[in-house]
Parts: sequence; structure tokens; C-alpha cells
Amino acid sequence: MSTLLAIRDLDLTLGSKPPVRLLRRVSLQVEPGQIVGLVGESGAGKTMVSRVVLGIAPANARVTHGSVAFAARDITHLSEAQRRPLLGREIAFIPQNPMTALNPVERIGPQITDVLRMHLDLGRTDAQDRALALLREVHLREPQRILRQHPHELSGGMRQRVLIAIAFACKPKLVIADEPTTALDVTVQKQILQLIRELQRNSGTAILFITHDLGVVAKLCDHVVVMHGGRVLESAAAARLFENPTHAYTRALFAATPRFDRPADELKPIPAALTQQLNEEARVLDARDA
Ligand SMILES: Nc1ncnc2c1ncn2[C@@H]1O[C@H](COP(=O)(O)OP(=O)(O)OP(=O)(O)O)[C@@H](O)[C@H]1O
Ligand SMILES: [Mg+2]
Repeated sequence: MSTLLAIRDLDLTLGSKPPVRLLRRVSLQVEPGQIVGLVGESGAGKTMVSRVVLGIAPANARVTHGSVAFAARDITHLSEAQRRPLLGREIAFIPQNPMTALNPVERIGPQITDVLRMHLDLGRTDAQDRALALLREVHLREPQRILRQHPHELSGGMRQRVLIAIAFACKPKLVIADEPTTALDVTVQKQILQLIRELQRNSGTAILFITHDLGVVAKLCDHVVVMHGGRVLESAAAARLFENPTHAYTRALFAATPRFDRPADELKPIPAALTQQLNEEARVLDARDA
């Protein structure tokens, strides 16, 4: 089987006077059925990577180097119209904030069936049946009733289940989940992660899982990509990365992560000198690539 998502040497640049580099020669791969964790501190560029894949990078940002291939097809510079059949069908997205991601004035039912009818060419009744089945698959009780409800009538966890149902609705090859549990409280977070893993196992969908939570990565991911300052610093099988992180930044990230088996006072912030060194390296790279 060939690689599902292949990002190669990707540069994303904002403006021109002077240009600001948001991504610096980013490469990462997702194999079919694999769960890849994309981790790093706030501002690392994790969301930007996903936005390039989804074709929703900021309007004044341009891909100035490298490529994105999906299922062996170059999708770096697709137009919106060319990308539309892919999104929701082959590549789906689970957003961070379930409170704002659904249309507040539309019932849940049509928000699910629209996706099914658009991509799978289902008639009204078939789409309705499939929507019910999907709500059952994400373990929502009383699915009949939920189809008739508006988003504000559901809790955050229930809305995230609906959004997950929509993401998996067309059996996509790749789901991109950008911090899908950060907006939820801790017990609900656990349930949602369990659900994502269960659906992934049943469907064989690959997942690009964006998070700053290394605990989540350890439980969920096959492979991990560590980013800082728009760069990939380390990329390795999850087991290898947790056993033997090679980059100083990865080790610092581990030392800064709370763990149940370690008292909180042993947490060490990322050393300022390391951040400084990484920023300096980035400046050197920018001068080289300019
Ligand atoms: N709409 C935008 N226009 C221009 N620059 C942006 C925009 N959104 C984010 N950036 C910049 O792009 C860089 C990468 O941001 P990104 O949102 O990808 O980080 P992230 O790793 O997802 O962080 P977080 O964990 O906070 O979500 C940051 O320097 C940020 O300031
Ligand atoms: Mg982000």
C-alpha cells in the first residue's frame, strides 16, 4: 500500500515585505490506517499543517516550497472546486471546539444528512437511516430525538460525538483531528478519545491527531511528529520516541508534561536557552532558503 498523506519539504510563507515563514521545510507521512500524532507547544505550526492539507491556509499565506500528496495525487495547489469532492469524502476534519463548529440554527439531522447526500448520492430516506446508524455508532442515546434537536440542546460532549459522526460519515481515508478534546472536561475527554480509537479500529481510517498532550499521544498514536517554530524536529514510531527521544526539545517536552506517576513539582518548563537556540537555528535556515 502506498503512503496516504505525504507532505514534503513544505514551506508556508506569509506576505512578502518581509516574508514571514509559518512552516519551514515540513515533511511528514501518514500511512493508510495509521494514527500519527502531531505535537508541539502553542504556535509550533500544527494547525497550519492541517490547514494546508485542507486547503484553508490564511488568505495571504502561500505554499512557497514543497508539496502535499494525498493517495499519490498532488493536492498542493488545488482550486476550491477541485478540492471540494475530497473534503468530507476522502479527508474529514474534527474541529477543536464543538460549541462553534455546528450550525446553530439548523437541526442536527440535516447537518448530517447534507454530507451524506452530497458525497454519497443518497436519497432522503437512505440518508436519514444512515444518519441514525451513525449516531448509534458514536453511542448517542435516543438518536431519533437528537436528529430533531438543535446544537444548543446538546452538551459539548454530545456535540463532539455528532461532529465525529459527521467526520466518519463517508468512511474517509484520513481524518484530521485538531485538539478534538481540549474544549471538553476531563471525563468527557477520555470518552471521546475512546470513541475515536474505536471508530478508527472499525473503519481502518488513518488519523492525523494534533495535540499538545503527550499522554494522549502515548495512548493513541503509532507514530509521532514533534514540531517547534514551524519545523519538524523529530519524527519516530511512538514506542521509539517515548523510550528514546533523540532531540533535546522532545526530551524537554517530556520533562514539561504532567504524568500520573510523577509529582507535579518535578515538572520542568522548556528551558529558555533551548527555545533561543531553536529560534536561532530557524533564522539560519531562513537565510539559507531565502
Ligand atoms: N490566520 C493567521 N494568519 C497569520 N498567521 C497566523 C494565523 N494563525 C496562526 N498564525 C501564526 O502561525 C504560526 C503557527 O500557528 P498554529 O496555529 O499553526 O500553531 P499551533 O501549533 O496550532 O498552536 P496551538 O497549539 O496554539 O493551536 C503562529 O506563529 C501563529 O502566530
Ligand atoms: Mg492549533
